[in-house]
Amino acid sequence: MGVAAKIAPSMLSSDFANLASEAQRMLDCGADWLHMDIMDGHFVPNLTIGAPVIESLRKHTKAYLDCHLMVTNPLDYVEPLGKAGASGFTFHVEVSRDNWGELVQRIKSKGMRPGVSLKPGTPIEEVYPLVEGEYPVEMVLVMTVEPGFGGQKFMPETMDKVRALRKKYPSLDIEVDGGLGPSTIDMAASAGANCIVAGSSVFGAPDSAQVISLMRKRVEEVQKNY
Ligand code: DX5
Ligand code: ZN
Repeated sequence: MGVAAKIAPSMLSSDFANLASEAQRMLDCGADWLHMDIMDGHFVPNLTIGAPVIESLRKHTKAYLDCHLMVTNPLDYVEPLGKAGASGFTFHVEVSRDNWGELVQRIKSKGMRPGVSLKPGTPIEEVYPLVEGEYPVEMVLVMTVEPGFGGQKFMPETMDKVRALRKKYPSLDIEVDGGLGPSTIDMAASAGANCIVAGSSVFGAPDSAQVISLMRKRVEEVQKNY
C-alpha cells in the first residue's frame, strides 16, 4: 500500500470575492485539501492573499488549508498564519537555506504541518537534508511550473525530481503544483506524486467533481501497487 491521494484545488483560480462558497463547492466536489497560494510580490511577481484572508476563510470551514508560501521571508508568516488557522505551511527552499531548522520547529510549535517546495530550476538534492534532518518536513512540493501564476503549462522535465524523491522516500507526501489536470495527471501519478494541486483545470471544467475524481483514481491506481 502506498500513500493516500490528496486532491487540492488551488483557490487562486476561484472567485476570491466568494471565497467561502467556492471553498465549500470544492469540498462538495470531493476535494481533500484547499490549496492557498500566498505570494508577496517579491519572491514572485504577483501578490495574492495573506493571514487575514486565511483567518476569514477559517471561520467558514474546517477543511485542511494547504498554504504555499511564495514569499521571501517565510519566518515572518509563521506566527500570523498559525493564529489564522492554517493547516499546512510549505515554504520555499530557495529562501530558507540558512534557517530551515528554525523554520520547521516554529511551524510545528504553531500546530501546522511543515513542507518544503522547490522551483523547477532547483536541484532535488537541496531538499534531502530537510526530509532527513532532526526536524524533518512532512511534505515536499515539487513545482511543475515557475511559481507565480495559475494557468501555465506543465513542465514534464520536473518529473525526474518526483521519481527520485519517491524512490528514496516511499511514504513521503509528494505534492505537485502547476499545470495539472486530466492531460498531465498520468505523468505526475506514475512518477509517484500523491498530493495534486490543480487550479484552472478544476475551476475551468464544466464538471469539477469529475476532474477531481479522475485525478484521485490515477493516483490511487499507481499507489496501490507500491
Ligand atoms: C502557481 C501556484 C499554483 C497555481 C496552480 O504559482 O503555486 O498553485 O494556482 O494553478 P494551475 O493548476 O492553473 O497551474
Ligand atoms: Zn501553489
